[in-house]
Amino acid sequence: MQQLDWSNLPFGYVKTHYNVRCKYKDGKWGELQISDSESLPLHIASTALHYGQQAFEGMKAYRGKDNKIRLFRWEENASRLQRSAEGIHMAPVPTELFKQAVVKAVKLNQDFVPPYGTGASLYIRPMLFGSGAEVGVRPASEYMFVVFVTPVGPYFKEGFNPVKIAIVRDSDRAAPLGTGTFKVGGNYAASLRGTIKAQKAGYGAPMYLDCVEKKYIDEIGAANFFGIKDKTYITPKSSSILASITNMSLTTLAEDLGLKVDRRPVPVEELETFEEVGACGTAAVISPIGEVNDLDSGKVYKFCKDGKPGPISKKLYDTLVGIQYGDIDDKHGWITVIE
Ligand code: PLP
Ligand code: COI
Repeated sequence: MQQLDWSNLPFGYVKTHYNVRCKYKDGKWGELQISDSESLPLHIASTALHYGQQAFEGMKAYRGKDNKIRLFRWEENASRLQRSAEGIHMAPVPTELFKQAVVKAVKLNQDFVPPYGTGASLYIRPMLFGSGAEVGVRPASEYMFVVFVTPVGPYFKEGFNPVKIAIVRDSDRAAPLGTGTFKVGGNYAASLRGTIKAQKAGYGAPMYLDCVEKKYIDEIGAANFFGIKDKTYITPKSSSILASITNMSLTTLAEDLGLKVDRRPVPVEELETFEEVGACGTAAVISPIGEVNDLDSGKVYKFCKDGKPGPISKKLYDTLVGIQYGDIDDKHGWITVIE
């Protein structure tokens, strides 16, 4: 195994020992297979390649001070993958199969779970796709479920420091009645134009607005948006965003801190009034936002004026990460220790 600089890992792919795979054929799931190959044999007419019949999940395993490896709310990822599967007519992965595959992939690559205290974690990427051949536009009759893992550091190079975000208005990642609530590859393909535009302008990620009126905040790249003001945690309600498991957890932690939670459409001008804003997700954890630049109008919203994350974002971050690494009591029952 190669030497890894755990404390300076980027968010990227590292080859590990094994991945696990399972095939759906003749109306049923087969046995889980272990593979040491990084490639897949794929039919040239598979629906994944042609019609984007593909969905994935993103989750992490964390090594605690006690050296134990913990998963965070894996059941939520299992059920979201089932919703994504239904959303684009794929065979859903049963919850038990999902768990077995994730646990197996982590255990087989235990030595890639970064040491406690490095800030890194093992990113787990379950994916499901139509492997059966079709030429007409229809769902495949065969599917592959694959789980691979890779050790990762922070998604944004800033880590838990303020990141700059750009509002993009000339592309949409998902339509209101489209696939935005599902974690399907097509949404990410559609987000590349906005992502590249934001990055070229010197920003960490694009902020998408609702695609009908361009009036309300949708989400930020591959993360949900939240804002804090008047002791309230505010996060967008929209039919084109992904229901983030991190965001859902933060609403609970915010309530634990005595904050109110408000999930509603958030007009973009309301940015002016927030005391703190952030992006949240498995990869992003909480990334405090220091600046939002509306590239078209030139309007700039500034936060974290002292260069540091706000106090509520910090408290939420410390609590979430503390639970994930096993430093804080898991009173909501979110953690599964891998035995
Ligand atoms: N929004 C999008 C578009 C994402 O890709 C992700 C990442 O999974 C999130 C939000 C955050 O979701 P979660 O907290 O479940 O990782
Ligand atoms: C995650 O937060 O797990 C994501 O899926 C982000 C990813 C698309 C890089």
